[in-house]
Amino acid sequence: MNAPEPAVTSRMPHVMNTYGRLPIALSHGRGCWVWDTEGKKYLDGLGGIAVNTLGHAHPKLVPALQEQVAKLIHCSNYYEVPLQEQLAAKLCEISGLDAAFFCNSGLEANEGALKIARKFGHDKGIEKPAIIVYEKAFHGRSIATLSATGNAKVQAGFGPLVEGFVRVPLNDLAAVEEVARTNPNVVAVFLEVIQGEGGINASRADYLQGLRAICDRQDWLLMLDEVQCGIGRTGKWFAHQWAGIRPDVMPLAKGLGSGVPIGSIVVGPRAVNVLGPGNHGTTFGGNPLAMRAGVETLRIMEEDGLLANAEAMGRLLREALESGLAGEKGVVEFRGAGLMLGIELDRPCGVLLGRAAEAGLMISVTAERVIRLLPPLIVNADEVRQIAAILVPLVKAFLAEAPAS
Ligand SMILES: Cc1ncc(COP(=O)(O)O)c(C=O)c1O
Repeated sequence: MNAPEPAVTSRMPHVMNTYGRLPIALSHGRGCWVWDTEGKKYLDGLGGIAVNTLGHAHPKLVPALQEQVAKLIHCSNYYEVPLQEQLAAKLCEISGLDAAFFCNSGLEANEGALKIARKFGHDKGIEKPAIIVYEKAFHGRSIATLSATGNAKVQAGFGPLVEGFVRVPLNDLAAVEEVARTNPNVVAVFLEVIQGEGGINASRADYLQGLRAICDRQDWLLMLDEVQCGIGRTGKWFAHQWAGIRPDVMPLAKGLGSGVPIGSIVVGPRAVNVLGPGNHGTTFGGNPLAMRAGVETLRIMEEDGLLANAEAMGRLLREALESGLAGEKGVVEFRGAGLMLGIELDRPCGVLLGRAAEAGLMISVTAERVIRLLPPLIVNADEVRQIAAILVPLVKAFLAEAPAS
């Protein structure tokens, strides 16, 4: 690859420089394709980081949102918002849980979950409640959620961190049993069913079932962060459903609004009465525009069979990548489920982000060595083949040139 690496510098001097952005300005999209301001076309293998469930400018979503904008965008939670009830009822139907709270982002949903866990503990007389969290976890960038996050880089410079977290490795039930034996202050276990930012690391089904049993025995809340892996991405509405269990608390965000900011905490019977009037709230949360986006997203997903599509296209994408990269010694592992896929390489590969963009493909690299694909759930077989056709030669060329570190 002779073309220069795209520079990762800010071309927006008045915007705070908190992201390592590529010098590409996107203008518009349609389906799984996005165009930049120079007219170059990209295949979207990233879905806005698992947000654009329905791709871009979906012909059923656009008129619904246009109609809602013209009707009522925001009205405050001083009043009933019928669309909140509509979306909450649907979330309860597809999750088997009992009620939902609405907010605006993933970290906000997780903050609310952490508050529920602490209040659940206080209500039963535990003054210093502790929550079990995980190595390599990512839960957001507020002070509490970055404290729950298992990544020293995310936490660096922001101490003192919030106390009350006990960290364990993923898929190790004995570690959780050890905490149960030694720490009487534990009130909840909090984890991503598939860790996203941490490198596409899945909880095993038997591990989730074991956690469910421990939480029942100990009277702890099982809190499953489905912000990235939920909303159909793995081929079921929620990734934990593959294990046949139900959580007590489930934070959602990202894909629920197809790009309109939204978050939700969906709770089961043990958590439904923990918070009462005055305990929690948000100005924007549950506004009619975001609620309409959620209602329409779930409706269109059902109408267009997008759960089955995510599973089938995920399988096809994985097969195409596995066969294309077969025998490559620098490929450590293929991981993930449905349209949440990771390819771990044996060396840092952040440079592939820019090279893929140059080749007309949007991807992500996370945990330094993991190429992550999160395409819209509307992706079709032809587009899946194109993703693999662009990515495979890039990875091969990269592995041929870069020494393993
Ligand atoms: C599993 C998980 N939880 C929480 C968050 C935070 O969500 P947000 O960026 O909307 O605050 C993310 C974001 O990547 C995530 O992947």
